[in-house]
Amino acid sequence: MYALEAKHLYKSYHTRKQTITVLQDISLQIRKGEMVAIMGPSGSGKSTLLHNLSGIDQPDSGEILVNGHNLASFSQEELALFRRKNFGMVFQDFQLLESLSVGENILLPMILDKRNGQEQKQQLEKLLKLTGLEELKDRGITELSGGQKQRVAIARAFVQEPHLVFADEPTGSLDAETAENILHCMADMNRQAQASMLIVTHDLYAASFCHRILSLTENGLLPYEQEGRWDR
Ligand SMILES: Nc1ncnc2c1ncn2[C@@H]1O[C@H](COP(=O)(O)OP(=O)(O)OP(=O)(O)O)[C@@H](O)[C@H]1O
Ligand SMILES: [Mg+2]
Repeated sequence: MYALEAKHLYKSYHTRKQTITVLQDISLQIRKGEMVAIMGPSGSGKSTLLHNLSGIDQPDSGEILVNGHNLASFSQEELALFRRKNFGMVFQDFQLLESLSVGENILLPMILDKRNGQEQKQQLEKLLKLTGLEELKDRGITELSGGQKQRVAIARAFVQEPHLVFADEPTGSLDAETAENILHCMADMNRQAQASMLIVTHDLYAASFCHRILSLTENGLLPYEQEGRWDR
């Protein structure tokens, strides 16, 4: 059984003037504990693919199986719960709540699941340290830089120790050193917790942290010609 399997996904967007077909017969398999990068030009459909695979949006046709569970078989409520328990998401535009502080944003999935206060405290401390946000715990989201917001989004994605992490450009707004720290931290979590990860990136260095690199092209998802860092 795969951690994530997509079979023949199709997705089009309909605007008033035209229909844009973005995903055309996309299939993908990710094994448990595998870390996979997806690369591709701007507009090729990487975010669309991530949104469909993670259940935020639905494909027009095709099947998505997570540990053998078909996402389409869940009710909306079941899907929300399943996503919160199993998935970590880093969105390209972060999607943080401006009415909450840094710490509250990171803890939100745990708060929604009514996780024990001590557990929350421990996770928050660990993640603030890992992402270098200790000093900013009580700050408002609007008072952060882009890179700081990105780190909050990453911390939130990992707070429930998810089985599967979807990250859209997780290091896009970070300086080289912070990006490197975050990538090592993601690779560590991948190794320690056997979390599977699907990372969209334009950066070959970030992709090199993954076991496998795929390119999203007009002809579907193809293996990138360069190999991942199997020795990491
Ligand atoms: N909600 C929407 N309605 C209509 N068209 C959309 C919508 N979302 C995306 N698109 C179009 O679908 C195509 C794929 O967009 P998507 O955001 O998936 O690309 P991407 O590969 O993530 O690009 P980038 O690297 O710039 O983030 C683009 O042509 C985009 O304009
Ligand atoms: Mg995108």
